[in-house]
Amino acid sequence: MQHPEFDLDPGIVYLNHAAVAPWPRRTADAVARFAAENARDGARHYPRWLTVERRLRERLARLIGAAAHDVALLKNTSEAISVVAFGFPWQAGDNVVLAAEEFPSNRIAWQALSRLGVECRVAQLTGAADPEQVLLDLIDHRTRVLAVSSVQYGRGLRMDLERLGAACRARGVALCVDAIQSLGALPFDVNAVQADFVMADGHKWMLGPEGLALLWVRPEWRERLALFQYGWHMTREAGNFDATAWQPADDARRFECGSPNLLGAHGLDASLSLLEEVGIECVAEAVLARGGHLVERIAARPELELLSDPSPHRRSGIVTFRHRGIDNAALHRRLTEAGVVCAARGAGVRFSPHFCTPVEQLDAALAVVPK
Ligand SMILES: Cc1ncc(COP(=O)(O)O)c(C=O)c1O
Repeated sequence: MQHPEFDLDPGIVYLNHAAVAPWPRRTADAVARFAAENARDGARHYPRWLTVERRLRERLARLIGAAAHDVALLKNTSEAISVVAFGFPWQAGDNVVLAAEEFPSNRIAWQALSRLGVECRVAQLTGAADPEQVLLDLIDHRTRVLAVSSVQYGRGLRMDLERLGAACRARGVALCVDAIQSLGALPFDVNAVQADFVMADGHKWMLGPEGLALLWVRPEWRERLALFQYGWHMTREAGNFDATAWQPADDARRFECGSPNLLGAHGLDASLSLLEEVGIECVAEAVLARGGHLVERIAARPELELLSDPSPHRRSGIVTFRHRGIDNAALHRRLTEAGVVCAARGAGVRFSPHFCTPVEQLDAALAVVPK
């Protein structure tokens, strides 16, 4: 039985929240209402739309333990990483430390800094007994940023962000966390982590539409990030179209150059209202229980190799495995044809159930995998 808040096709098993999540019914309804209102009244009620955007900013801030005025709403995670990477006050010869296993967005933005003389120092996490230490060992006296995902997209490795944050703080290195693979699934607190920058798009574990991401910048960094996107919306004077002199907004709005994505805001606000009702602690418990269930079932089958780290403190919403006797692309195709929506990632097949995924569907998906 599907979760009552969702209208998923009963003929499919949706294990792809680490890619793009299905919307809750209330999100689809909110977007449909917004569309109907646009068709009927245009933007006549724009001030009301802005109250939804304000509420969304507050929900996102609550989700990461931050203040709403420190949250910027951008297009996606890649844009948010780029705002940090290209705004950061680098000197030629500085470096950024990151992992080889990062999703391309969290590598390419940093690699693009080579034209400024910034080096990428790349750690291999796969197979490391102590992945945090492998990252920390690459920090030297020219390291200015450690860029890491809270959970690695391929095999779901959950990083000990508090340890990384404390080590970065002690060495004067800024910690930039791509949280897209955990926000909405696991609790996050910018202060416990001692993060400097956090970003995440809404279309995975936050169950929202694509195209609306949060960027949180620690207030100490706000004015130290150089701006490179400009427009009417990012100024203190926003809305005063006659003003000829301008200053960047004092809050995180300075990173939002133009018209907001209010369609996305209506959707994501509705999705987050569901996560708030359930409570992030309950959501996390359910996500980890489903991950644990998959880990146990996969480990009990000798023909399967679990590629995710099974230790409880490393688990996330992502479980990746491969078949010892079947090519991975063929296995992924077979699952897809049987209606199991999942991904080929991390040299295996990646299952990513959310709190709302019925547990019996995990067994149904594994039953499609040949013995
Ligand atoms: C870790 C990670 N970062 C970033 C992205 C891409 O984010 P966006 O499309 O919001 O730029 C993904 C998408 O799979 C991801 O897994």
